[in-house]
Order: sequence, then structure tokens, then C-alpha cells
Amino acid sequence: MSAKVESQVSLKPYNSFGIDAEALHFAQARSDDDVRQLLAYAASEDLPVLVIGGGSNLLLTRDVTALVLRMNSSGIRVLSDDGERVVVEAEAGEPWHPFVQWTLEHGLAGLENLSLIPGTVGAAPMQNIGAYGVEIKDVFAGLTALDRQTGDLHEFSLEECEFAYRDSHFKRNPGRWIILRVRFALSRVGALHLDYGPVRQRLADQGITQPTARDVSEAICSIRAEKLPDPATLGNAGSFFKNPVVSAELAQCIRDQHPGVVAYPQADGRVKLAAGWLIEQAGWKGYRDGDAGVHRMQALVLVNYGQATGEQVHELAQKIQGDVLERFGVELEMEPNLY
Ligand code: EPU
Repeated sequence: MSAKVESQVSLKPYNSFGIDAEALHFAQARSDDDVRQLLAYAASEDLPVLVIGGGSNLLLTRDVTALVLRMNSSGIRVLSDDGERVVVEAEAGEPWHPFVQWTLEHGLAGLENLSLIPGTVGAAPMQNIGAYGVEIKDVFAGLTALDRQTGDLHEFSLEECEFAYRDSHFKRNPGRWIILRVRFALSRVGALHLDYGPVRQRLADQGITQPTARDVSEAICSIRAEKLPDPATLGNAGSFFKNPVVSAELAQCIRDQHPGVVAYPQADGRVKLAAGWLIEQAGWKGYRDGDAGVHRMQALVLVNYGQATGEQVHELAQKIQGDVLERFGVELEMEPNLY
């Protein structure tokens, strides 16, 4: 077997929360063959398998009594180019932001609003990553996944992925599929998405009136850097909760009492509320208990100041959920996967 299986490995460097949980066994897969061989090895040893990418959407609340298989494959290639529309394929282990940079350096628009999101290409479809008005479903052109039940490869179309807000077929069927590579339809003449939040304003402040995709990427990097902690210096998993979608009646009831509530009407008549606003109003922004806390600048982000355990972060999350439910009647759903 070409991939090396190690035992009793700390997962601290492999999860963006920086939680010091231990993997019973750990291996990195650099190819499809590595993945198949490691799955066969785990089956022969009767070991469960936990597949991870960048570990940026994961909260480890205990040691992992399994083989942790980290996707570490690399490769980016152009599959087709008609002069305007360019389909690019990237291996699952490619880190997301450098991949976005690669597309921009090649003059391709489409992923610029998703700049600086931590994690890997293979993890991106899991929760249909999104930011500043764009989700990967908007530029998705297909993916190849290994079916762990049959061992076969399957090519997924957009429809089959069942993408929704921070959700997908893969998230709803945990453990079934291993995403091996993902394809994106990008554009040399792409229309830019500038209407979400402060993007247009940030560009105007910089005196940019005819922005390129690279300008948009740089503006978004600067906006994110102001509000979101860098996992390299402060452990976190980005937004810890999804923005809840509630009935129009409940949204109105909250608005009556709190006219400042941040709310986005949805096509189906329901209303998406800014969870960060609810959590801040409930008084949790900047809260710290030991090394687990709520970020000072963005209440939607839970942080590990150093030695927090996953259980402590989870306990804090549950307290916030209980308090927001009591105050606003709104249930907050966690975004990261809990192990
Ligand atoms: N807000 C507060 N207090 C806070 C945080 C936010 O009042 O502490 C208010 C803001 O003032 C704003 C509104 O809530 O009016 C929305 O805030 P923001 O634009 O920062 O976005 P968000 O809804 O908190 C979502 C995504 C982010 C993504 C941004 C930008 C979710 C769960 N999160 O955050 O995604 O970067 O929009 O598009 O949908 C992630 O998923 O890890 C992530 C960072």
C-alpha cells in the first residue's frame, strides 16, 4: 500500500478549530488508488473510516476510534474552453482558496466571491459553500465520487447533488460518498456579483468603478479579514450556525419587538434571519468561558483560544441555542459536523 497508516495521531493540525483529539489511525490519500487501498485496509481491520478534507467544518468532541482518511490529492486542469466558458476540474485535496486564486490568475471569473473560504475543493460541495451572494451550485459543472457501498465511481450532475442553503445530497447521506474531484463552469466574460452587503461599497471606497474578478476577490478578502478570525491564529470553523429560516409570522413577531432585526425574505414566503444578529442581541458576542468563546467581531463564529476541548465548544453552542430559543423562539442549527 503506498499510503502510510499511522497510529495515535493528534488531529490538532488537521482541524481548523485546533482541537487536540486523537485519531486511532490516520492516513493521507493522494490518489484514487490510495483511497481504495485505505478503504480495503480499514474493512480488513474492521475499522470505521472518517474522511476529512481541510477539517474546517468539523468539531471533534472526542478521540476518533477510526481510520481518519485525509484527502490530500492534487491537480487542477482545464477540461474544455470555448473562449468564453471554461470548465475546470480540481482534485478533492486541493485547498480551496489557492484554487480560487489559480482560476483568477487564469482570467476566469465565477469563484471570486468565494475567496478566502477555508477548506478543500472536495469538501466544498458537502455543504454547498457560499458567501457574498454566490454558492458553488451557481458555477457547478459536475463531480466524481466513489460510492463506498459498491466501490463504483459515480458522476454527479447538478440536480443529483440536491444543493440547498449549506446543504446537499452528500450532507444528507453522511459516509456514503467520497468526493474525488469537482468541476466548475467558469467564464472569461463573467458577470460579477456585487450586490451582497458591503462588496460594491468596498470597491467604491477603493475608487474602483469597473472592477475585475480579481478586484472583487481582493475586496472580499479584505471584508472577511476584518470580521472573520484566521484559523491559523485563532481556532474556528467559520459560521457555527446556519442562518435560520422561519415563518413570516414568527419573523413579524420578532420585528415587532426588535425593529432592527436583520431579515431576508425568501422566495417561498418564509424569512431568513441573521443568526449573528440574534446571538449578539442575546448578549453572547465576545463571551468567553475558559478557552471556548464567541468571536468579538462576528457572533456567528465560535472560537478556540488555545486549549478548549470540542466538548467545551459544543456546550457553549448548546447554551447559545437554548438562550436564542428562549428569547426569540428561533431554533439555531449547527453548521459544522460533530464527531
Ligand atoms: N450581524 C450582527 N452581529 C454579528 C454578526 C452579524 O448583527 O455579530 C448582522 C450583520 O450586521 C449583518 C447580518 O448580521 O447585517 C449578516 O452578517 P454577515 O453579512 O456578516 O453574514 P452572516 O449572515 O453572518 C453569512 C455566511 C458566511 C458568509 C457571509 C457573507 C452563513 C451561516 N454564514 O454570514 O459564511 O461569509 O454570510 O456572505 O450563512 C461560513 O459559512 O462559514 C461563513 C463564514
